[in-house]
Amino acid sequence: MKTKGQKTVFVCQNCGAESAKWLGRCPSCNSWNSLVEEIRTKIKETKRGSGISAQPVVLAKVPLIDKLRQPTKIKELDLVLGGGIVAGSIVLIGGEPGIGKSTLTLQIANHIAQEKEKSVLYVSGEESIEQIKLRSERLGINNQNIYLLAENELENILSQIDALKPTLVIIDSIQTVYSDNLASSPGSVGQVRECTTEILRAVKGQKGNKTSVIIVGHITKFGAIAGPKTLEHIVDVVLYFEGDKFQQYRVLRATKNRYGSTQEIGIFEMSDSGLVGVESPSLLFLSHAQKEPSTKIVGSVVIPTIEGTRPILLEVQALAAPSYFNYPQRVATGFDIRRLAMLLCVLERHCGMNIGNHDVFLNTGGGIKITEPATDLGIICAIASTYRNKPIKAGIAIIGEVSLSGEIRPVVQIKNRLNECAKMGFKTVIGPEYNLKKENERKTNLNLVCVTSVSQALDVLGIV
Ligand code: TYD
Ligand code: MG
Repeated sequence: MKTKGQKTVFVCQNCGAESAKWLGRCPSCNSWNSLVEEIRTKIKETKRGSGISAQPVVLAKVPLIDKLRQPTKIKELDLVLGGGIVAGSIVLIGGEPGIGKSTLTLQIANHIAQEKEKSVLYVSGEESIEQIKLRSERLGINNQNIYLLAENELENILSQIDALKPTLVIIDSIQTVYSDNLASSPGSVGQVRECTTEILRAVKGQKGNKTSVIIVGHITKFGAIAGPKTLEHIVDVVLYFEGDKFQQYRVLRATKNRYGSTQEIGIFEMSDSGLVGVESPSLLFLSHAQKEPSTKIVGSVVIPTIEGTRPILLEVQALAAPSYFNYPQRVATGFDIRRLAMLLCVLERHCGMNIGNHDVFLNTGGGIKITEPATDLGIICAIASTYRNKPIKAGIAIIGEVSLSGEIRPVVQIKNRLNECAKMGFKTVIGPEYNLKKENERKTNLNLVCVTSVSQALDVLGIV
């Protein structure tokens, strides 16, 4: 409830201007739809230095946070979190509807609640208790220490957290929670932010600070309609669930982690009985043809990429055909379209391919996003192969960054990549001279082909 001395104002998210009522356009900076309802509490006049404040602590005496980590025992998730959920932290899991957020959080709840004297409060504003029970049946979860609460009102949720003092609270989803203090509807930016801040205050203000919170947030394909994006700076860890809900696998990626790296990804497969971690992701992203050493495929190349510390062999497929329009189409799934334009220009200028009048389509295996420049050479070879209609033998992996002059630049973590190639049964790796020359001295079972330019790599592949 709104207490005395509190009032709500509408604040422009662009310039900070305030207004007593909602306006479609900010009168100060003229941006549209940027006013969000916020609570304003009158600040009591205080003298500097009054009251009890925090005390300085000697750095060397601060205990390590690792002791506070609670492993979730879901291997892929622990990898992304940096070892587990830190007690008292707030984790945000974002993703499109239907991607598996509720499934994952229920699985986490089960693992945490299996430990002695640990309990989990699962708050659902979307589904009834019976619906959650149905899901838990499917997942084979029947735990004595998981408490379910179907509730939307923030104040009630907070008092239940206070009464139960669970190890973990799951809020599924933040868009369905509302606070009585604000007039705006659930799911609006003001509500989502106010509710999260209140939950944060309740948990962090606890004595001993033991309760962790997982907040589920929906995002839409086009970004953030009152989505988790507005919460990123409030919470400790932000995880995004990516992938196509029509496909089996899902990728969990950290975009912010106050307690670990944001480089690692977790890969899951949606099975009949929930999400299962994928032990060998390379197997997942290679097509059947690429696993058969005797086949030759046009426009398909395998690239050993690195995600965090983990090497993953990824298949890239390209298709080029003469365009019937004035503006040829360039369509890429999982790859930056501007980088593709640059690679096409390199092919045109340095390899004599007249690709400017061709439509070009590029797909990464299973639509997984690649951002590494080390994938350039592989992509260029896939495009050249489809343009010239010359197949590339299976069993060859290609790696290297391409410069504007068509030269091949070295890549990082080459040993890691080569080991994965050998493990997956690849015979030949084409890559930067700088890296592979050194590796050749080490004697590996792989046939390492050093190249210094794109045209040399195409020569080796027989694409001329
Ligand atoms: P859900 O976790 O409800 O997604 P979200 O909370 O992100 O909206 O589940 C997503 C989909 O997963 C749903 O269409 C059903 C499917 N699913 C399975 O394939 N196997 C399972 O064991 C479960 C629980 C769900
Ligand atoms: Mg859900």
